[in-house]
Amino acid sequence: MSDTGAALTEYLRRSLAAELPANVVLMHLLMRAREPFEARGAIERVRRDLEKDCDPRKRERLAAIARLWDAHPAAWAIVRAVAADHGATADGGQKAPAHWATLFDRLAATAPEAGVALYSLGDPDLLNAATAEIAAYLRGRRLIGPERKVLEIGCGTGRLIAALAPDVACIAGLDVSADMIRLACRRCAAFPNVRLGQTSGEGLASFADAAFDLVLAVDVLPYVFAGGGELVWRNVSETARVLRSGGTFAFFNFSYRDDIEADRTDVRRLAAEAGFAVVQDGARPFARWDGAAFLLVKRA
Ligand SMILES: C[S@@+](CC[C@H](N)C(=O)[O-])C[C@H]1O[C@@H](n2cnc3c(N)ncnc32)[C@H](O)[C@@H]1O
Repeated sequence: MSDTGAALTEYLRRSLAAELPANVVLMHLLMRAREPFEARGAIERVRRDLEKDCDPRKRERLAAIARLWDAHPAAWAIVRAVAADHGATADGGQKAPAHWATLFDRLAATAPEAGVALYSLGDPDLLNAATAEIAAYLRGRRLIGPERKVLEIGCGTGRLIAALAPDVACIAGLDVSADMIRLACRRCAAFPNVRLGQTSGEGLASFADAAFDLVLAVDVLPYVFAGGGELVWRNVSETARVLRSGGTFAFFNFSYRDDIEADRTDVRRLAAEAGFAVVQDGARPFARWDGAAFLLVKRA
């Protein structure tokens, strides 16, 4: 077995034990393999191991991953193309918002679903189900309501804005990618309470102090994080400025460095400096996505 084959097998074993969502495991498997046969080989090796394992749930989870791949034969090509595009644009240093604007303009044209959520494997139904989970999470915490004014930073195609617009007073969406904003405008055209616009990604200067009850950022801070500490601070402190006292900054994923403890430490420090209390500290509440949820409430 090659080193990659061994690493994939080990990844798969760990993922089954950690009960990660099948689509998330498949996404990582496809990102890590060099060829499809390596990923298939890892699935087959773990399947054979599990014949001796008395926990039927692991066998079922593995079977679900294999079924998902069978049902999405284009997943290999889609995941590889989007992941390669992220890698191909890497310049080795910090990446400013303009860099991500170019990348996401391209993805808006080539792979909008996988571009905003690679774990959707490009499947609009899977993406809709994941979006509904995020909306339900926000509703369950009473962050959504007819009086609420909401801002989403990095709204992409507007999938969450369209899901929330019927239930809030108004919702604004910003994105550095002009082409993502074009898709979001098309999707949200029927909602009179939605405002969308392109941003430089450097701050929220067009909004007044205390203008919002809730600011959202779904899988966006990792791109801000890639722009360096100063950019992160500008976004977090600007978010504190545009939220009313008691308002919430809900973001999902802080970085992609795969170190949740380092993320928690950074978020706690930033929250304290910007005047937030941390009420959710990186839990992973979703069935179709392993996004780490952070809820920060602005102190009075
Ligand atoms: C992975 S996509 C997620 C899109 C959307 N939040 C969703 O979950 O469907 C990341 C989005 O963040 C946008 N983005 C990246 N850096 C940004 C920044 N500094 N400010 C605003 N948007 C940003 C990208 O253009 C892209 O649309």
